[in-house]
Amino acid sequence: MESALDYWSARALLEWQAELGATEALCDAPVDRYGLEQAVPRPKPGAAPVPPPKPKEADPADVAGKAARAAASLPALRDAMQGFSHCELKRGARNLVFSDGRPGARVMIIGEAPDRDEDLQGKPFAGRAGQLLDRMLEAIGLSRAESVYLTNVLPWRPPQNRDPLPAEIGMLTPFLARHVALAEPEILVLMGNISCQAVLGKRGITRLRGRWDQAWDKPVIPMFHPAYLLRQPQQKRLAWADLLELKARLAAVA
Ligand code: URA
Repeated sequence: MESALDYWSARALLEWQAELGATEALCDAPVDRYGLEQAVPRPKPGAAPVPPPKPKEADPADVAGKAARAAASLPALRDAMQGFSHCELKRGARNLVFSDGRPGARVMIIGEAPDRDEDLQGKPFAGRAGQLLDRMLEAIGLSRAESVYLTNVLPWRPPQNRDPLPAEIGMLTPFLARHVALAEPEILVLMGNISCQAVLGKRGITRLRGRWDQAWDKPVIPMFHPAYLLRQPQQKRLAWADLLELKARLAAVA
């Protein structure tokens, strides 16, 4: 069908509408949009409803890393760990076990996880293993109050003191790395396998103990855990050799 408008009239009308702000061309016939909605297929009665797509869960280690990097001081790091809700261990623990000793000390000792006494007191190495550790340190002229800083890989007690799971170690290690960076020790002492796993990425304390390694730009020495020495006192001889090694290193770089 031929248009009743000539070219110049049609063009003038179009320009007039554009001036009024029209940005879209509409169809000649109206569209019933309510009718269109009904045309969307509905699930058949009795058919299982299609669940909405799940939002992607954040990786706990990424969340921990972000929170840890944002912490500019040890108290801020403690708060960040207190606010971390991705680790199930937190629900069963009485306290967050953050640290003990002197922040800024030359030696930082990294233990495994809180036990009953540590969970109750909120301090690492508060029980029998801690008392033995204090005596070991004293033997080479160090003390918890003045010359060492202590923490653990895990800040919450695992149920029945079970070994930490690899997933727990993985998600909490970003906090540990930040803890070391903020405490700025010269030397790290790793007590037992779990600490070696978290810091060095390897296990086998019998082979690793007494040998200097490197992690997070610091010299690291693995040692037998004092709780192991309580069960295996004959190994104290080797622990003594490792303590002397630590003492010599401190003296060499004093
Ligand atoms: N064992 C550890 O590794 N850390 C503690 O704090 C107590 C026992």
